[in-house]
Amino acid sequence: MTIPERFHVAAVRGLVLGLTLLSSMVWCSSAAAPHYSGDFFGTRSRFLTGAAPATTTTTTTPTAKVFNIIAHGAKADGRTDSTQAFMQAWVKACHSSGPAKVVFPPGTFLTGPLVYAGPCDGPMTVEIQGTVKATTDISQYSSAEWILFESVTGLNLIGRGTFDGQGADTWKYNDCSKHPQCIIPPTSIKFNKVTQGLMEGITSVNSKAFHIFVVLSHNIKINNVHIVAPGNSPNTDGVHISQTDVVNVTNSIIGTGDDCVSIGHGSTNINVLNITCGPGHGISVGSLGKYRDEKEVRGIFVSNCTIRNTTNGVRIKTWAASPPGQATRITFQNIVLDKVRNPIIIDQNYGSKTKKSPSQVKVSDVQFKNIRGTTISPVAVSLQCSAALPCDGIKLEQIDVAFSGTHLKQPFANSCLNAKITTIGKQNPPACV
Ligand SMILES: *[C@@H]1O[C@H](CO)[C@@H](O)[C@H](O)[C@H]1NC(C)=O
Ligand SMILES: *[C@@H]1O[C@H](CO)[C@@H](O)[C@H](O)[C@H]1NC(C)=O
Ligand SMILES: *[C@@H]1O[C@H](CO)[C@@H](O)[C@H](O)[C@H]1NC(C)=O
Ligand SMILES: *[C@@H]1O[C@H](CO)[C@@H](O)[C@H](O)[C@H]1NC(C)=O
Repeated sequence: MTIPERFHVAAVRGLVLGLTLLSSMVWCSSAAAPHYSGDFFGTRSRFLTGAAPATTTTTTTPTAKVFNIIAHGAKADGRTDSTQAFMQAWVKACHSSGPAKVVFPPGTFLTGPLVYAGPCDGPMTVEIQGTVKATTDISQYSSAEWILFESVTGLNLIGRGTFDGQGADTWKYNDCSKHPQCIIPPTSIKFNKVTQGLMEGITSVNSKAFHIFVVLSHNIKINNVHIVAPGNSPNTDGVHISQTDVVNVTNSIIGTGDDCVSIGHGSTNINVLNITCGPGHGISVGSLGKYRDEKEVRGIFVSNCTIRNTTNGVRIKTWAASPPGQATRITFQNIVLDKVRNPIIIDQNYGSKTKKSPSQVKVSDVQFKNIRGTTISPVAVSLQCSAALPCDGIKLEQIDVAFSGTHLKQPFANSCLNAKITTIGKQNPPACV
């Protein structure tokens, strides 16, 4: 899915300004309030006693101060809006002069939009043990996201807990499929300008739009997350990455209504490993070329993934009539497909029913290697490249796709346009010549 990013950026700016002010005020008043003496130094608290240890590959230093949201007035009743308590816990933790941890204990909590902004005095950990639910009144969300982490260096979002976007009420009103300039509902969890970020163990269900969005960040690891939304929920991309260098998305299960993983412009050095995807729209680079001055996509490595019951398998999509851009050095390998509609697809005519002017995004150096399984459509490999800038250096190696649909309306084959292809090893169906 493509997001009108300029809208998001503008909206975020306004919101962050507002909430930064709010946070500062909260910080000042809470500093004086005796109620917050629940904060303490050390690694355990009475709130944590008996809680399952979080699985994490990072270590929270023993000196990290712990801030439990209950101590800041959050109610675990699933009904009381605890936004203020969550903000206070973060602001205190962020300014506690050293490593700090905000803990959401077991229980169900409700919150509207939340901005967890840095810079902080030390690395931050947010551990989710319970369930955090989004409020459902969409008019509360002037922001482009529900929970925003911004300008933090050293951030761990960990725990076995769940973020529930409660998106069902919003999906009905999403008309983005008809109006490409629509305003996309809020993303559940966004990392904006985060450096050294880890997201691990958490579950995201029923986001209003994107589940996870990483933008303008660096060195991000997303491991062992679970993403769930119905196959027909609109714009619910699992993980969307944009303008970020070095992201590893690994060992995760993603079933949603849009792309399981989508890699937008300015993404470089991205690894997507051991993802199970479906339902959804598959794993995509793009869409690219919707806006002017998009940055190139380079160094994308997607490996060891299983894609099941999705509309697409592995895909590169660029808008027709796009401004210039580039996507290069992209590898999709060791992919197992199960009843995928479009298993391997490059679509440079995305978003256009009529073939007006060709895309100006140059796609080059793309490897599809060891991709096997089944499709329910008559076309296994579809490479529809730009007439203005044909795809260069497309390598197909060991492709083995069988038809497993019910009724074949045309011969089972591949389809290519403006693509320079080389092949190695088995090609089933036969590669385009
Ligand atoms: C991502 O994975 C690569 C290859 O395994 C590794 O070299 C790199 O350090 C990882 N980066 C992050 C941020 O996890
Ligand atoms: C495939 O996905 C659709 C749409 O989400 C869903 O209704 C259907 O049950 C899924 N089928 C299988 C076999 O998982
Ligand atoms: C792949 O991911 C799944 C789901 O998270 C996990 O259970 C499995 O152990 C992972 N496989 C490897 C080889 O890491
Ligand atoms: C993919 O899986 C194979 C076979 O299980 C394993 O040997 C290889 O290291 C994995 N590759 C990556 C990049 O995880």
